[in-house]
Amino acid sequence: MVNMQWVKDEIEGLKNSGRYIPIRVLQSAQGPRVRIEGREFLNMCSNNYLGLANDPEVRKAALDAIGEYGVGAGAVRSIAGTMEIHAKLEEKVAQFKHMESAVVFQGGLLANLGTIPVLVGKEDVIFSEELNHASIIDGMRLSSAKKFVYSHMSVDDLESKLKNSRKDGKKSLIVTDGVFSMDGDIAPVKEISELRERYDTMFYVDDAHGEGVLGEGGRGIVNHFHLNGKVEVEMGTFSKALGSMGGFIAGQNELIDLVKQRARPFLFSSGLNPGDAASVMKSIEIMERDDSRVKKLWENAEFLQKGFREAGFTLTTTKTPITPVVIGDEKKTQAFSKYLYDEKNIFASPIVFPTVAKGTARIRIMPSAIHTKEDLKETLDAFSEGARSLKLF
Ligand SMILES: Cc1ncc(COP(=O)(O)O)c(C=O)c1O
Repeated sequence: MVNMQWVKDEIEGLKNSGRYIPIRVLQSAQGPRVRIEGREFLNMCSNNYLGLANDPEVRKAALDAIGEYGVGAGAVRSIAGTMEIHAKLEEKVAQFKHMESAVVFQGGLLANLGTIPVLVGKEDVIFSEELNHASIIDGMRLSSAKKFVYSHMSVDDLESKLKNSRKDGKKSLIVTDGVFSMDGDIAPVKEISELRERYDTMFYVDDAHGEGVLGEGGRGIVNHFHLNGKVEVEMGTFSKALGSMGGFIAGQNELIDLVKQRARPFLFSSGLNPGDAASVMKSIEIMERDDSRVKKLWENAEFLQKGFREAGFTLTTTKTPITPVVIGDEKKTQAFSKYLYDEKNIFASPIVFPTVAKGTARIRIMPSAIHTKEDLKETLDAFSEGARSLKLF
């Protein structure tokens, strides 16, 4: 055997620097309460914004689809793996997003990895937000386009980079997260869409944390800003508010056609499972007929964020239900999360460097529409007691 001591050294290094992430195993479905190690925990860190991951109607839709289509697509979509249910889902997504067309992938990460290289190549340029998601960064690397990173939320910096460097590429793409997952702030999509016209550059928004949260009935960030037709590419995921698995790209007919011809996760990886496709369709149907879950999510988020601020905690400049409680020091944050877990039966994972900048470690609390006021009060009380006990302030 080759000497693999380096693996142990790497893990030791992660542990010593407080960057080793303990991976908890859930013994129950996603919900406001989950079972871990045989104990019940209040679940405050999942992206199941609307509580659809274990909704009985959504579960039934998945089971029915499995009854009809089986559990797997059986092949890559371009060979023999495109099922009627994929086509129906794509129509549904396009109609929900008010876009001409959509293509679905096996995950949001794959949608980004696959699509960015279809849009731009080595003769082109990309302007990318500093805090973009890892899957956008990897998609850009795969594209070989020349990359310019602009400062977080800075339209001025983006414009100055466009002025200096737009001409360096034939085609050009601005790419941003819509909602920043670690801070909860919202990208200045309106201002960017104006720049995009002025500098003849395509605009790509990753709406992973906007779907089900922002816009009319949870239609996402482009809808929230009334910008339909002003964003060339909307990317989204089914793994958060929609409660299931998969990702999508929505845009004009020809663009989606081209993505299906060129995107490597579409061409070289088997299609989304029928059960997942059906569950997403049902989740969209539920959101279309009733926006009470979206309203409840916001009500819960406002209650929680007010409570944290009143208790003296520092939150980021979040504008969405994402509620990052900033502690700062990596080890203190790990210790606080452990206190919540050991003493208060609250499941709330620490987020540390390199996911966020050094010295800004946090516990990201994710309220959902299915948390009760009692759940939220329990969380606030536990944080206050924890802060006293660990002498945070
Ligand atoms: C902004 C953003 N884009 C893409 C993804 C990837 O989505 P998925 O989990 O569907 O692969 C995530 C998920 O963490 C995300 O937060």
